[in-house]
Amino acid sequence: MDNPYRLNAAEIIDIKEETSNIKTFVLKPKKDMGFRTGQFIEVSIPGFGEGPFTPSSNHNEASRLDFTIMNVGKVTRGLHEMRKGDVVGLRGPYGMGYPLKDFENKEILIVGGGVGLAPLRSLIYALFNDVKKYKKILIKYGAKTPGDIIYKDEVDGWSKDGRSEVTLTVDKGDDKWNGNVGLVTTILDNLNMDLKDAVSVVCGPPIMMKFATFKLLDLGFKHEDIYLSMEKNMSCGIGKCGHCRVGNFYACKEGPVFPYEKIKDYPNIWD
Ligand SMILES: Cc1cc2nc3c(=O)[nH]c(=O)nc-3n(C[C@H](O)[C@H](O)[C@H](O)COP(=O)(O)OP(=O)(O)OC[C@H]3O[C@@H](n4cnc5c(N)ncnc54)[C@H](O)[C@@H]3O)c2cc1C
Ligand code: FES
Repeated sequence: MDNPYRLNAAEIIDIKEETSNIKTFVLKPKKDMGFRTGQFIEVSIPGFGEGPFTPSSNHNEASRLDFTIMNVGKVTRGLHEMRKGDVVGLRGPYGMGYPLKDFENKEILIVGGGVGLAPLRSLIYALFNDVKKYKKILIKYGAKTPGDIIYKDEVDGWSKDGRSEVTLTVDKGDDKWNGNVGLVTTILDNLNMDLKDAVSVVCGPPIMMKFATFKLLDLGFKHEDIYLSMEKNMSCGIGKCGHCRVGNFYACKEGPVFPYEKIKDYPNIWD
């Protein structure tokens, strides 16, 4: 039987600084590594350990994977110290990803906070691959300050001729910022959507996911139409260690994307 922990070597072919603590790493895996948008991959940094990360790139490309990663601890610090030409290890992809089939013929609201826009960028690319299958795509993204916005050079391009629209907000503006100031929930009012036929996808820090979900429920979204990326503590990534439990589920197997309906009654889902 194949060793599930065997790594696929991947060279860092480009690094882009998104913010003071977030970088996008473009990797070229030795063996092509296909994934479905929303699935995650265990990235191993020699001498530092490994961690789960969701590719932020287009799932139609298997020979190049982007990861947008915030420096928060040992593994991510190790990765942030790496340079072009260095090599990391990959295993996966794991988990279920976004149920794109269920999104067809619907209006889609995407709500992101901070580095949570990373998996959502992959989803946005996947939706744009077949944009005619979806009625409308609204993208709402919040960051702490203008300097904390990721993908600055491409977010404006995600507004496309009436079919998709992007709104940004920051918790705290600066002299040059003339957009909305306030938490991401403040740009969810007055949604021009037909909620009978809509789904929402949320990814960001736990506190943001919690308040965005409650806001979406207030607005009339049904529990089963809100999809959450549960970036729980993970270790093995393959359903063996139990670190990633969300109630009766293993987030690494049944998730990391869950409809709110499926997990809403379990305690501590926002921790
Ligand atoms: C399915 C999945 C997909 C993920 N995708 C991404 C991704 O695309 N980009 C990305 O940057 N991260 C992502 N993460 C989170 C990432 O796995 C962790 O940030 C990383 O493993 C932390 O490892 P570390 O050794 O650097 O930090 P640790 O030393 O393990 O943690 C250091 C401290 O940071 C805190 N911390 C951990 N994660 C976060 C976080 N996300 N935000 C704020 N504080 C945190 C911990 O609670 C701890 O206090 C994902 C997690 C999961 C489960
Ligand atoms: S990470 Fe080990 S069971 Fe899910």
